[in-house]
Amino acid sequence: MVNSHTVPEIIRHRRQKLAELIDFPAVLWSGGSSSRNFPANTFPFRANSHFLYFAGIPLQNAAIRLERGNLQLFIDDPDPSSTLWHGETPSREEIAAKIGADDARPMSELKDFLADAATVAVQDAPTWTQQSQLLDRWVLPRQLPQGIDLDLAKAIVTLRITHDEAALVELRKASAVSVEAHKAGMAATKKAKLEAEVRAAMEAVIISNNMTTAYTSIVTVHGEILHNGHYYHSLQQGDLLLADVGAETESGWAADITRTWPVSGKFSPTQRDIYDLVLAAHDTCIENIAPGMEYKDIHLIAAMVIAEGLVDLGILRGKPEDLVKMDLHSLFFPHGIGHLLGLDVHDMEDLGDLAGYEEGRKRSDRFGLSYLRLNRPLKPGMLVTIEPGFYQVPAILNNPKTRDQYQYLVNWERLEQFADVRGIRIEDDVLVTEEGCEVLTASLPTKAEEIESLIS
Ligand code: GLY
Ligand code: MN
Repeated sequence: MVNSHTVPEIIRHRRQKLAELIDFPAVLWSGGSSSRNFPANTFPFRANSHFLYFAGIPLQNAAIRLERGNLQLFIDDPDPSSTLWHGETPSREEIAAKIGADDARPMSELKDFLADAATVAVQDAPTWTQQSQLLDRWVLPRQLPQGIDLDLAKAIVTLRITHDEAALVELRKASAVSVEAHKAGMAATKKAKLEAEVRAAMEAVIISNNMTTAYTSIVTVHGEILHNGHYYHSLQQGDLLLADVGAETESGWAADITRTWPVSGKFSPTQRDIYDLVLAAHDTCIENIAPGMEYKDIHLIAAMVIAEGLVDLGILRGKPEDLVKMDLHSLFFPHGIGHLLGLDVHDMEDLGDLAGYEEGRKRSDRFGLSYLRLNRPLKPGMLVTIEPGFYQVPAILNNPKTRDQYQYLVNWERLEQFADVRGIRIEDDVLVTEEGCEVLTASLPTKAEEIESLIS
């Protein structure tokens, strides 16, 4: 059992493990808040995830220097004038005691401790500019790191790719609250007139548990827009509502859940056919998750189940194996089966594909595989999402080239009968265990009848 006293021990252990992987100091910046529309009006602050992993608490405008398992903290004491606006905030010494720092200094002294130090770029521009200036080399958030920065990034990936006990406690909390948020969204749908009302019901659960959303919620009747961030559509009987909403705990750990449900409380026969097909893909993938299994093969299992189902429904023509080889499934399932999940909803994607792809592997240029975010053999302690979907994306399906190329392989007339299915996705968070896997979000039903009864 992890409690507030033992968590720092586990975090100290992370620093020790980093020391076993690198023989140079690492300096990690927390980042600062970004202004919205004028300097004093800022976006909510989110500390850099690599910083959070080793520091354990979301400090702002701070840096930690890690060497041989020791931690030096760099942070300024609060400005006396800030008390008026922000209340009393802890002193440097108090923070140092909390995170178990061996030494604590003002930020102005950081420049004297940077010799031979590696770092990871922080996303906000003032911070990566400061990193670049102080280290006297470019530290850029959208470029693969070089030299010791690359060695540090690889060491961090080695540690963060599987989750320790303290992380799992937090990840389970984020999952549990996200499950309740989805149930609240389903319960709110009957009376709601707008997508925004369902979003509000879902996020209310997250906020009232003192968490934030781990990413911009997707709550939409236009599920075919994969990352739809609008909430103004009205809810009509006959619509499917796709909700991709996940919570993030105070220390930064995320959940990522998608469910799709009928606004009326009852799937139409065509919606039910496709829903059951996506669910079959979801369930078959999860049944196959085990250590040693290639995640790419899990993706291809989903592709095969979808292709088989679409042939059975008369939407595709041909042998499913051939259709998958030709990427026909990806006309309707254009993204990868999922991604790593941890402190980031797409965990460590700030490092490009360094975390998602096993060394030596590169993104495929096949349409059906190019959006695969994870291509590694699975290991116990990895947390991945499984999120198959079916979408009718006008830009893909109405493209004259697509129509021409697949005029026989797709039964376009039959497809028209499924016009009330714009987008369906079913997503759960799956922990790889020694024996197989555990679905952290399993308490949220997936079966169509159970979803219908939660709405009604
Ligand atoms: N939850 C959004 C995504 O996985 O891309
Ligand atoms: Mn996801």
